[in-house]
Amino acid sequence: MSSHTNSALAKCLLVCVALFGIFFSQTSAMALTSLEKRDVYTPPVLYPHAGTVWYKGQTHNVTWDVSDPPAHITNPIASLMLRKGQLPTPLILADNFSILLGRIEVTVPWVTEGDDYIVVLFGDSGDWSEEFTIKE
Ligand SMILES: *[C@@H]1O[C@H](CO)[C@@H](O)[C@H](O)[C@H]1NC(C)=O
Ligand SMILES: *[C@@H]1O[C@H](CO)[C@@H](O)[C@H](O)[C@H]1NC(C)=O
Repeated sequence: MSSHTNSALAKCLLVCVALFGIFFSQTSAMALTSLEKRDVYTPPVLYPHAGTVWYKGQTHNVTWDVSDPPAHITNPIASLMLRKGQLPTPLILADNFSILLGRIEVTVPWVTEGDDYIVVLFGDSGDWSEEFTIKE
């Protein structure tokens, strides 16, 4: 009886320690992220934006604001991915270009029509455009 209680107590303690561990590691991760924020560069995507309509096969310049870059950029090499609403797609629109370019020419891929497409500019982290439309 008492050994049963003890093992229940031990399990409870383990859970408490584990929970505390998770909590603590998240707090320290958050502290670390805010420290690293200084050089993380996520310039806002300017085009495409809400109201933009692209047609399959067209070429367009995706543009982003490079007016205020930090002195040291952790990762200057960028790539551009397509998302549909909350879903990432495996479509790479452009890859291996400098985030300081401010624009990159892309060809509109053949995808199902939708008004919730988003381009994501990846450098240090992902910066999302507004939702726009792709038609066939
Ligand atoms: C993209 O921008 C470059 C430089 O301004 C220009 O030469 C090119 O024609 C543009 N492409 C499209 C599809 O508008
Ligand atoms: C990325 O671009 C650089 C410079 O244009 C080139 O030297 C390098 O080979 C490219 N890397 C890949 C993986 O395409």
